[in-house]
Amino acid sequence: MVADAEALVREGTALVLACARTALSARGVFHLALSGGSTPRALYRELARAGDEAGFERWHAWFGDERCVGPEDAGSNHRMAAESGLLARFPADHVHRMRGEDGDAAAAAASYERELRAALGLPPRLDLVLLGLGADGHTASLFPGSAALAAAGWVTVGRAPKPPLQRLTLTFATLEQARALVFLVAGSDKAAALAATLDPSVSAAPPARRAYPLDGDLLWLVERSAAGA
Ligand code: 6PG
Repeated sequence: MVADAEALVREGTALVLACARTALSARGVFHLALSGGSTPRALYRELARAGDEAGFERWHAWFGDERCVGPEDAGSNHRMAAESGLLARFPADHVHRMRGEDGDAAAAAASYERELRAALGLPPRLDLVLLGLGADGHTASLFPGSAALAAAGWVTVGRAPKPPLQRLTLTFATLEQARALVFLVAGSDKAAALAATLDPSVSAAPPARRAYPLDGDLLWLVERSAAGA
């Protein structure tokens, strides 16, 4: 648990840079999947200020999920990451945008899956996936009761309870393959979802409880207000 939003940014930035160093020294490349929403915005801004020693030229930016809107849309996760200045640190062809705006979400999911497999092979092992937690216990665009929870493959179509309804999302299978998953959670409105996610005695498991690496690290960066009692 971290004390406040500033600590979440500081700790989160240090974690991403540490994961990058590990990946770059092991494989010479760092595949990072970005979360959407509002929590990571400040972290992306801080990360964008990292020095050249971070080795951004060998980083690849992926997305954990994206709304089926264009990159200029206010709801676009790509736009949020771009506005933070972070995407500008990557070589342009290392930014892998989910292109859900063309009207055929299933085709867009299949296309992104091909892109993932082409870059990472099978199974596609991302080095680090940043995730948020919704107040309903969703993560990425894996919402309670949605078909995406049972989807096969590596990328699927998600359906949100609030607009933009249609999303693209990594599946649990892809999250399971990650070398590290880091949840970034802030805000008292997340306390109940966090408790339900982390407490195995809660029988109605939120989708976020199913997001864990089979062979990797799972870390929670929780800002105090989200930690509840
Ligand atoms: C999205 C995100 C989503 C987000 C959570 C938490 O596309 O909105 O990927 O999973 O991480 O909803 O959002 P906040 O950080 O805004 O609370």
